[in-house]
Amino acid sequence: MNVVHQHVPRTGPARESLREKGQFWTPEWIADAMVAYVLTGETDTIFDPAVGAGTFFRSAKALAAKSNRPIRLSGAELDPDTLRQARIHGLAADDLRHVEINDFVLQPPRGGLKAIVANPPYIRHHRISGAVKAQLRALGTQLIGRPLDGRAGLHVYFLLRALQLLSPNGRLAFIVPADTCEGVFAPPLWRWIASNYRLDAVVTFAPEASPFPGVDTNPVIILLRNLPPSDSFHWAKCMTPGTGDLQEWIRSDFETEPGHDLVVFRRDLHEGVATGLTRAPVLVPHDGPTLGDFAAVQRGIATGANDFFFLTHQQAAALHLPEEFLVPAIGRTRDVPGDTVTAALLRQLDSQGRPTLLFCPDGRPLQDFPQPVRAYLQTGAERGLSKKTLIATRNPWYKMEFRTPPPFLFTYLGRRNTRFIRNLAGVVPLTGFLCVYPHLTDQPSIEALWQVLRHQDTVANLTLVGKSYGGGALKVEPRALERLPIPSSVLAEMEPAGIARPATDIRQLELGFGKRAILTPR
Ligand SMILES: C[S@@+](CC[C@H](N)C(=O)[O-])C[C@H]1O[C@@H](n2cnc3c(N)ncnc32)[C@H](O)[C@@H]1O
Repeated sequence: MNVVHQHVPRTGPARESLREKGQFWTPEWIADAMVAYVLTGETDTIFDPAVGAGTFFRSAKALAAKSNRPIRLSGAELDPDTLRQARIHGLAADDLRHVEINDFVLQPPRGGLKAIVANPPYIRHHRISGAVKAQLRALGTQLIGRPLDGRAGLHVYFLLRALQLLSPNGRLAFIVPADTCEGVFAPPLWRWIASNYRLDAVVTFAPEASPFPGVDTNPVIILLRNLPPSDSFHWAKCMTPGTGDLQEWIRSDFETEPGHDLVVFRRDLHEGVATGLTRAPVLVPHDGPTLGDFAAVQRGIATGANDFFFLTHQQAAALHLPEEFLVPAIGRTRDVPGDTVTAALLRQLDSQGRPTLLFCPDGRPLQDFPQPVRAYLQTGAERGLSKKTLIATRNPWYKMEFRTPPPFLFTYLGRRNTRFIRNLAGVVPLTGFLCVYPHLTDQPSIEALWQVLRHQDTVANLTLVGKSYGGGALKVEPRALERLPIPSSVLAEMEPAGIARPATDIRQLELGFGKRAILTPR
């Protein structure tokens, strides 16, 4: 049997075309495990709504052959070219006889499907046409009783359609991006699924075990049956890529003690849906201190047009913009390689031609600005900036948002390095960052809090409040960051640490916010 190793280009038109069509093939170790689940019931048919190069068909054939069972392969696929690839990768014309070239969601097959297995195309909402979106909305309303939020991608509707077509006692295995469980549309979707189907298991992946290395999504496998719900489900995290433990555990009907490559919990269904199915269970509810007790969080500045408002020193000088309208600023998370922003870093960025100055006109009438500012704003007006979505909400359009330079920044969407940053250069950040403003603003308190924020146990808790993306990236919204649990052990550890006046600092924090836990002896 051929094994398909898909070459996924990192950038360029070939990558874009894969994205457009959602054509990323499932690796064999994942396909085998998912197929094992749906074929556990004595089923002799399997349906793949997005056949592609036929990975699931090959797994199903191999599994059926091992147990000497006949298997009927059927499915749907929009792009006939992929079926040619399926032939090249070892499937016979006969294997593809029951694949309809069709849109699975909009022209679905007849229902009563006993085993559905899919890696649906990951096509985000902004790539879907308005007409198709309207039909998808109608499908949401038909099943759930109300439309899903417009940000649900095509993969979410694949899942809905498949659930609709699943026969009683039928099994479904889907591998989907984590946003299926975490997006704004997820809570009503999962409440509906959890009250109508039996969720058997959810499988997540450590970043280093991702089935799609190099692809910017964090996948999760959903295994469920069309049976009345049960009040708990199995939750697993796969720690090693390619592990056979996953398939073995699934084939044993989740009974075997998993090996080291798999971490497994039995979870309460309501807790799982409430915590987010992609997140680890919160075993001990956190009633201790959170970041919000020590600091307030605000998003960075949204300029609405960085190419106009975010300038290099050279540009600002050429435009003769007076200093009073320029504020040191930091734009991209990758402009900060370490955990501090310093004046030296700004100079280095500037020498690399990166912008480091935010042009900040206030709200005075245009004619009251000095001439160079007036002239530059005039060029912005001529470019039609005042009509851009965000800018149009300001009055006047050029009045820049104001932020006091925060002592700490937070990169809220970073691959493997979502982190706090010490701002030693008095910069204001743009939207790639959050601003963290300590409640206590004296220097020793700020330094004490810095030690807490950079502590690995504090950083580890980010997964409890963030939304996960591929490669370990996390997105954390301002309010969620304020809910970040600060481990009491970290606060206690900081107490005698070699930072300036540590005990006093922590005591001040404690006195300020009444958290007795802070002074609990270790
Ligand atoms: C992520 S790939 C999965 C292919 C294969 N099952 C696998 O797991 O390797 C998704 C496939 O769905 C196809 N597709 C995209 N939109 C579709 C639609 N509306 N109906 C059916 N197939 C579609 C794409 O052409 C692509 O081959």
